[in-house]
Amino acid sequence: MCGIVGYLGGTKDPKEVIINGLKKLEYRGYDSAGVAIWNGKNFQRIRAAGKLKELEKQTTDLSFQGVVGIGHTRWATHGAPSERNAHPHQSGDITLVHNGIIENYLEIKEFLKSQEVYPSSDTDSELVAHLIRLQLQKTPHFLQAVREVRPLLKGAFALLVVCDRFPDEMIALKEGPPLVVGLGTNENFVASDVQALLSHTQRFVFLEDQEMAHLKGTHIDFYNSEGQKQTPVVQTLNWSPDLVEKQGFPHFMLKEIHEQPRAVAAAIEPHIHLETLSVKLKNVNFSHQTPRLHSTDKTDQTTEELFHDIERVFIVACGTSFYAAQVAKYYIEQIAKLPVETDIASEFRYRHPVVPPKSLFLVISQSGETADTLAALRLAKQLGATTMSLCNVKNSSIDREAHGHLYMNSGPEIGVASTKAFVSSLAVLNLFALALAKAKGVLSQSQEQEHVQALLSAPSQMEVVLAYDKYFNEAAHRLKLFKGFLFMGRGVSYPIAMEGALKLKELAYLHAEGYASGEMKHGPLALIDERIVVVMIAPQDEVYEKSISNLEEARARGGKVWLLTNGEASPFKTTTEAFLHLPKAHWAITPLLSVVPLQLLAYHLACALDHDVDQPRNLAKSVTVE
Ligand code: M6R
Repeated sequence: MCGIVGYLGGTKDPKEVIINGLKKLEYRGYDSAGVAIWNGKNFQRIRAAGKLKELEKQTTDLSFQGVVGIGHTRWATHGAPSERNAHPHQSGDITLVHNGIIENYLEIKEFLKSQEVYPSSDTDSELVAHLIRLQLQKTPHFLQAVREVRPLLKGAFALLVVCDRFPDEMIALKEGPPLVVGLGTNENFVASDVQALLSHTQRFVFLEDQEMAHLKGTHIDFYNSEGQKQTPVVQTLNWSPDLVEKQGFPHFMLKEIHEQPRAVAAAIEPHIHLETLSVKLKNVNFSHQTPRLHSTDKTDQTTEELFHDIERVFIVACGTSFYAAQVAKYYIEQIAKLPVETDIASEFRYRHPVVPPKSLFLVISQSGETADTLAALRLAKQLGATTMSLCNVKNSSIDREAHGHLYMNSGPEIGVASTKAFVSSLAVLNLFALALAKAKGVLSQSQEQEHVQALLSAPSQMEVVLAYDKYFNEAAHRLKLFKGFLFMGRGVSYPIAMEGALKLKELAYLHAEGYASGEMKHGPLALIDERIVVVMIAPQDEVYEKSISNLEEARARGGKVWLLTNGEASPFKTTTEAFLHLPKAHWAITPLLSVVPLQLLAYHLACALDHDVDQPRNLAKSVTVE
């Protein structure tokens, strides 16, 4: 979950390239940061505990004579966040940065002890630097030494290694966490994510697991898992560097909340035929390895044929993406009449799951790199399922490994708290449910048209709800005095209640719970008193009356109730603490609307409490370790 940047080549100042790149990767971890840059004699290392700005303070007055360097921003796994444990790590003339976990670090430590090598940090990463240095005593070739160390490492790792003896070389290797090589003119780059490099190049080579890149001067050799040279697949992205800037907003999160109407429009656009108001999922591109489900001898099944044969859907994800999965369960069961199981990826992968034949297994991941979700996907493939991914980051590991593909199309999401990727996921999951229903023959044309029309209206309805920004800006100072928050909802609003609670926990560090309203009497009612805010999400749907009864029960016990509804205002304007009106919408669209005020509530509360919104404590955007 750390961020890595490397620069080798041209005329740019490596310090600028690396530190600016790390700024774009700070979402991956911000416990400490460091750089090592060639200064004419060796790779000079500067490290600092805390956020990147601490490192910047230390490097402001430094200049370097070389054009090669590596840098790192850390999310601590082995060893507390401190300067001593900050990357880069060094052993003699070897310097490296690492993202991931070396699982057999105890074994390696024992081996190093037998060689009388004693690490100076508590990290697993430093051990790799020692192994490479020892190996370089046996072979004069830098690349060879790194290659020979690699089989000694177990776990997940992306490494960038430099050596004082070979100052115009850099070796990148990937076994798990992402690593991308950016191709420039007479200069090249390496990073954990393209966002770090967009201001320098649009041409990228995404390394696959077990691949290596050997950068030497302005030349790069790419090696496959067998160690043979290979021609790289160069991908050109047309992402503008502006996409990863705040564009006048105080935080990325607020910018991303306001981008949501546009994100939803971009998510649905490829799959909707506007004249007929019909749905056809585009570019799902099931690969040839997809298990065949259709009873005919056809080798190439269309998406529709494949969907027709599906008998059960599994949806697996983590965090906010898991709540999107839970909303999708309501969509698919009600619209496509197919049974759906949802699971948290870290549970699915270890619970010896049963995945019957003719199951469609969908994983949802904004980053496409979440370690547990990726492992769940691999397990589902082993169990013979037909798999699909719904990712935001194209070419991410999950996107590459799934049989079929859907995209959120939200553009880069930088804030650690996921917002626009969530609503884009919900929009695509609406279409996924409709496409399944069509393939199953359980959707009439009028139902399809009505639903598509409702989805097309969602972006403008979201614009209306964004007006609550000002309201929560003011209300936050009142709300921050409460002891805790209870979010309640039924049906599709139940996962939204949990998402609201998650946002508040991760940003405001306040106690918050998301509950199915019907469960209140089974325990949570005991929590309610005048110091608890009850946020009731109750759109006018088939369970509306029941939700309102739950609201009255909470009120009767002294709870301060905030009601979010598109129902009648008059009965509640005076009886609730706050009445937040939502636009009238199709039941499946209401989650896209009701989640927005909850995001704004968490955002403004965190600001009122003076928390770092874009970088909440202890968290990272991409959870690439389990
Ligand atoms: O990249 P992913 O969607 O796989 O990430 C899953 C979770 O780590 C993520 O949604 C996390 O819960 C967010 N910080 C929530 O705002």
